Amino acid sequence: MDDSRRIVALDEVPEDGSLLFTATVADGDERVEAILLRLTDGVVAYENYCQHWTDVRLDSGSGAALRNDELVCEKHGAYFEMDSGYCNFGPCEGATLEAVEIAVEDGAVYLADDRYAFEHLGPAADEDLSSGSRIGFSGS
Ligand code: FES
Repeated sequence: MDDSRRIVALDEVPEDGSLLFTATVADGDERVEAILLRLTDGVVAYENYCQHWTDVRLDSGSGAALRNDELVCEKHGAYFEMDSGYCNFGPCEGATLEAVEIAVEDGAVYLADDRYAFEHLGPAADEDLSSGSRIGFSGS
């Protein structure tokens, strides 16, 4: 896998939260945020917004809320199954998070989704970095 697509070492994907990263849409300047989630048998990635209100981020920089094997949107309490992204409870029940294709190779996680180019770890907007939220990783 191309080094430019390397997101992070597999060991750095937390077990008790999410890891936020920013990608660029391949055919333009638009940026998207996505989150990595660790499963018992791997890692998955989803775009970083709720299916109820799509302007609500699941991880605003300090990790998404997790409960057992579910990701919780703290805005109105929707629950998403971590392995599938399926919402099994809450106002968007029946919806599914937008998956982002990743690959794990040689102990690292790579962005394998042709729609996106990896940009950096952390949120898309620089101002979020100074707002007091803890990212936990440096993009450089
Ligand atoms: S915005 Fe996520 S549950 Fe309403």
